[in-house]
Amino acid sequence: MDSPHILVLGAGSAGKRHARNLRALGCLISAFDPREDRLGEAAAEGPLISSHMKLDAALGAHGYDGFVIASPPVFHVDQVLAIAARHERWILCEKPLSVTAAEARRLEPVAGRVLLGYTYRWWPPLGRFRERLQAGEIGTLHTLRFVMSAHLADWHPWERYQDFFMANREQGGGALLDESHFIDLMLWIAGWPAKVYAQVEKISSLEISADDNVDILVSYASGLRVNLHLDLLGRPHERSITATGEGGTLAYVYEENAIKLCREGAADWQREAFTCERNEMFVGAAKELLALVRGGSESPVTCSVADGVRALQVVDACRESSASGRAVLLTP
Ligand SMILES: NC(=O)c1ccc[n+]([C@@H]2O[C@H](COP(=O)([O-])OP(=O)(O)OC[C@H]3O[C@@H](n4cnc5c(N)ncnc54)[C@H](O)[C@@H]3O)[C@@H](O)[C@H]2O)c1
Repeated sequence: MDSPHILVLGAGSAGKRHARNLRALGCLISAFDPREDRLGEAAAEGPLISSHMKLDAALGAHGYDGFVIASPPVFHVDQVLAIAARHERWILCEKPLSVTAAEARRLEPVAGRVLLGYTYRWWPPLGRFRERLQAGEIGTLHTLRFVMSAHLADWHPWERYQDFFMANREQGGGALLDESHFIDLMLWIAGWPAKVYAQVEKISSLEISADDNVDILVSYASGLRVNLHLDLLGRPHERSITATGEGGTLAYVYEENAIKLCREGAADWQREAFTCERNEMFVGAAKELLALVRGGSESPVTCSVADGVRALQVVDACRESSASGRAVLLTP
């Protein structure tokens, strides 16, 4: 298959990025978006084999080799199922899989054809961070701290943040769902936890119906304690993961693009610097999609429906804890 033909559903920021990357990897691109201007923007970046404003017409066409879903989260499940009903092809579905775990579980019957886009899993520094932790570089792990803080108005400078799906709870916006990236990374690094306590709130004057500030405390049966802070308010933006273990502290700071280690007796951090750019994580996901489309076996896939359901189980537990004011036990 020289030039796989990929249909991209949702030609917004992530959809156009995937289209750009897939074109650069030799693919032919078609697009579906209910907004004509978005289709125009996608076409201005490179040729579209076809473009559609109606899903039925898009899926009624033939000759696709694979699919990318980059619409707002509330549409992901129905769109995966609509594709799977007509085309036996692989689908790269952007994160989160849906807005609740129950909704996401509807994808279990077609899980064998879905690659999930929690793209930080393809980000080389985080693969390395996980490897170094798993190699026992800082000994028994005691705490993990995730921070993601980025003002929503800065995310898409080309549009009013109020008009972006992130502002809208019903469409799957908000810090908890969107930054479930970091919940996924916690599960990827540390496995399944025992208990969560969370506050999921809207505390700022941002004109949004979704949450903008989330604090989560997580307990593991092993004794590991995790703290996740996610907000849509911070400037300058900050994304970091800090692990403390019996033998030192290992941190990854996105803004520095470096892993830093400090051990007892050391005066300063030892740094492992990286030169990769953010787009590489999306290219990694696109390459895996293409390997799957071409019949290669990426088994197991880097990020699966089961991973997406698990992240949403934790999201659900956070909402429940926040509403009740109590900790919530997690069953695997
Ligand atoms: N993996 C990552 O790091 C990453 C980064 C950015 C976005 N995303 C994900 O990608 C998805 C889209 O985010 P975005 O930032 O591109 O948003 P966006 O608002 O820029 O784009 C969404 C597009 O979907 C279109 N749309 C609306 N309803 C639709 C429907 N029913 N079917 C198809 N398209 C529809 C909109 O017109 C818009 O063009 C979200 O799930 C988001 O979480 C992931």
